[in-house]
Amino acid sequence: MKLILDSDKCQGHGRCYALAPELVDSDDYGDAVLVGDGTVPEGMEEKAQLIVDNCPEFALTLEQ
Ligand code: F3S
Repeated sequence: MKLILDSDKCQGHGRCYALAPELVDSDDYGDAVLVGDGTVPEGMEEKAQLIVDNCPEFALTLEQ
């Protein structure tokens, strides 16, 4: 499972990195950047889905 970030959609709401700092970090502008290549570690699948569901800009998606 892999997180995909559409940086053009991200408006820096910050819910993703507040909820799952293991998966998403912030840049100097408060926009999201994926940790590593976005691969979701074992056991983090539910948290990944949570941040996908919580981004108001639909900037995050999950790829199987
Ligand atoms: Fe950006 Fe959505 Fe996170 S707008 S900072 S990807 S909650």
